[in-house]
Amino acid sequence: MNTFGRIFRISIFGESHGSSVGIIIDGTPPGIPLSDSDFVNDIDRRRGGKKGTTPRKDADNVIIKSGVFNGKSTGAPICLEFENSGKNSEDYESGLFPRPGHADFTSHIKYGGYADYRGGGHFSGRLTVGLVAAGVIAKKIINPVKIESEIIEIGGNRDFDKALDEAIQLKDSIGGIVECRAIGLPVGLGEPFFDSVESLISHIVFSIPAIKGIEFGSGFGSARMKGSENNDIILNKSGKTATNNAGGINGGITNGNDLVFRVAVKSTPSIGKEQSTIDLNTGKKASLQLAGRFDTCIALRVPVVLEAATAIVLADLKMLVKK
Ligand SMILES: Cc1cc2nc3c(=O)[nH]c(=O)nc-3n(C[C@H](O)[C@H](O)[C@H](O)COP(=O)(O)O)c2cc1C
Repeated sequence: MNTFGRIFRISIFGESHGSSVGIIIDGTPPGIPLSDSDFVNDIDRRRGGKKGTTPRKDADNVIIKSGVFNGKSTGAPICLEFENSGKNSEDYESGLFPRPGHADFTSHIKYGGYADYRGGGHFSGRLTVGLVAAGVIAKKIINPVKIESEIIEIGGNRDFDKALDEAIQLKDSIGGIVECRAIGLPVGLGEPFFDSVESLISHIVFSIPAIKGIEFGSGFGSARMKGSENNDIILNKSGKTATNNAGGINGGITNGNDLVFRVAVKSTPSIGKEQSTIDLNTGKKASLQLAGRFDTCIALRVPVVLEAATAIVLADLKMLVKK
């Protein structure tokens, strides 16, 4: 559903071309300092406008609607809203020609034609601005744990400029791999059986549109390693290991080393190149030439979203341990 988490509980709302998007966060402890300026850095990192990203520009000034008084969280639900100031009504498609790879077809069928299809509606990457905002609060809750992320490759290439130039020239899109790392975690976060750290991280990560794969530590590589190669030798009582093939998790529980995982971000469904689709009215084959604004490479905008998603899970797990 649109709600995630046990104690630090988020509910996401909005559509790409509706009036706004945002998030409601329940369970934030009282007394956490919070002001508009806290959101600027992370929200800015998610923003489009740079090479390979959408030219759509939303002001993305956070509107703190509730849950903050005199600069501190009150303990009541926090509602954070972002107006869709960058939407362009000329980009509105008819909704009758579903974009291959997007949610246009599935949402049209599932919601009986009532889904807001404009710019991908509720399935748009635009909604991740709310996730990033909740991440700002989650990062405060898990302090001193720090989360970092970096793009490893795009379009199978480590030369980002070259990969982007090629894709832009071809009016096509490319995917990428992004790595995320949480540093300074205690031993013991994660709950059996279904709330293992891998389960919860994967759950939220696969909620981010366009994420198609995840691996923790040596991940798929571990299937080809011997136990003697893959086992992380424990060096001391704090759990420090010589290697980190486990990605910081054993038995679904953090082991005191860095939590490390990588995700595969698919290539953007919307492309400038002509594609084939169907006319939903007639069921007949149709050609699709998109004129809207879209990211050439979504992976470029994913790092801060991944950090937020990770912080949200870790904040919830931290609060579960305390209860
Ligand atoms: C930050 C971000 C930006 C995105 N930008 C676009 C875009 O410009 N055009 C597009 O077609 N899809 C974009 N997407 C991806 C679609 O929302 C996604 O592919 C679609 O909802 C279908 O979901 P799925 O790929 O998870 O199956 C973006 C996703 C994210 C996370």
